Amino acid sequence: MSTFQAPRGTYDLLPPDSATFLAVREAISAPLRDSGYGYIETPGFENVELFARGVGESTDIVSKEMYAFTTKGGDELALRPEGTASVLRATLEANLHKAGSLPVKLWYSGSYYRYERPQKGRYRHFSQVGAEAIGMEDPALDAELIILADQAYRALGLRNFRILLNSLGDKECRPVYRAALQEFLAGLDLDEDTVRRAEINPLRVLDDKRDAVQKQLAGAPALRDYLCEACKAYHEQVRELLTAAGVVFEDDEKLVRGLDYYTRTTFEFVHDGLGSQSAVGGGGRYDGLSEMIGGPALPSVGWALGVDRTVLALQAEGITLELPSSTSVFAVPLGEETRRVLFGVVTDLRKAGVAADFAFGGKGLKAAMKAANRSGAKYALIAGERDLAEGVVQLKDMVSGEQTAVALEGIVEAVRSRLA
Ligand code: HAM
Repeated sequence: MSTFQAPRGTYDLLPPDSATFLAVREAISAPLRDSGYGYIETPGFENVELFARGVGESTDIVSKEMYAFTTKGGDELALRPEGTASVLRATLEANLHKAGSLPVKLWYSGSYYRYERPQKGRYRHFSQVGAEAIGMEDPALDAELIILADQAYRALGLRNFRILLNSLGDKECRPVYRAALQEFLAGLDLDEDTVRRAEINPLRVLDDKRDAVQKQLAGAPALRDYLCEACKAYHEQVRELLTAAGVVFEDDEKLVRGLDYYTRTTFEFVHDGLGSQSAVGGGGRYDGLSEMIGGPALPSVGWALGVDRTVLALQAEGITLELPSSTSVFAVPLGEETRRVLFGVVTDLRKAGVAADFAFGGKGLKAAMKAANRSGAKYALIAGERDLAEGVVQLKDMVSGEQTAVALEGIVEAVRSRLA
């Protein structure tokens, strides 16, 4: 009887599928590492106030979905629901923005936690790979990040995704729009919750999924008509740079995003094979976040791609990643003395950089060969007492089935040259 199960909204990553997760993290981070982004790791929990101020008190993420708790010592902490606030907090704390030239470019990979209603593609524990470019206002930086995410998805073989792009304006023009939208919303017949949302964050009402609300929103003032000249020019440059890079995107005025720190550029990667949880990644510019958490003005931009949903997108497109087997050689000893000798050979192979595994537990030939097969090894090293007496081991090519006796002396080199 199994007593425990993974908590609701979580799942375990197990071999062989877990290899795909590692490969996805690798594929998303590779273009970042090649583009000057340095690796950062921050704690899995932070002061709850960081997220309340950074992500926004009125957001679902903070008001409903945060795993917040008080420690025995009385600290108010929260499991991180996202990475941006933490990365900026760490940057400010270590003065990275003063240490060298700007922007500070960072990437990260890790677990995030949101107390959401679980469904396919929506979990309470999920995994993101993210990137943040801190301290610089330059449309080329916004474009770079979108291009790198596009490149990562294409490298994985994904094709059925779309990039939605919008501008949310800045601290000059957004308040004007916000007021106009609030005035419009005040004239509608909305439920209590929505009225409250309209007061705190009216832009989020535009994102309401209900048809009845969407019908009422026809004729709402459009942010596009309120963008100031600086925001318009900035957005136009981002669009031009993307187009020049051959990255296809769709202008989506309704794209609001679920976090409050965004200014100007916002974008989302959506995949058409995922049903309702279609956003595989998202991000944008957050020029005011640093000041919101007590830092100097540090205009920044970033994104996070969801690893879980990217894996689902691969499945939806029927893509199986070509993952080389992690084991090259599998040793099968027959008898006590050969166990000792072959275990030594396996250790030597590993030291020489050859991925090797061993039939543990004194299995018989049949069970051991089954294990060798399952390991995906290219070669099996098989030896019985007679082989040892003759100073050889049997090297079996697991694909062709061909078996040859190879001298035990110099076996590591012999195997290495065959694998090369
Ligand atoms: P986000 O849109 O909240 O943005 O999350 C980014 C991605 O994480 C989503 O597109 C999705 O793939 C994945 N994700 C989010 N919640 C879940 C969930 N419950 N289950 C599975 N996957 C999920 C951010 O987190 C921002 N920090 C991105 C950013 C970085 N903006 C600027 N810099």
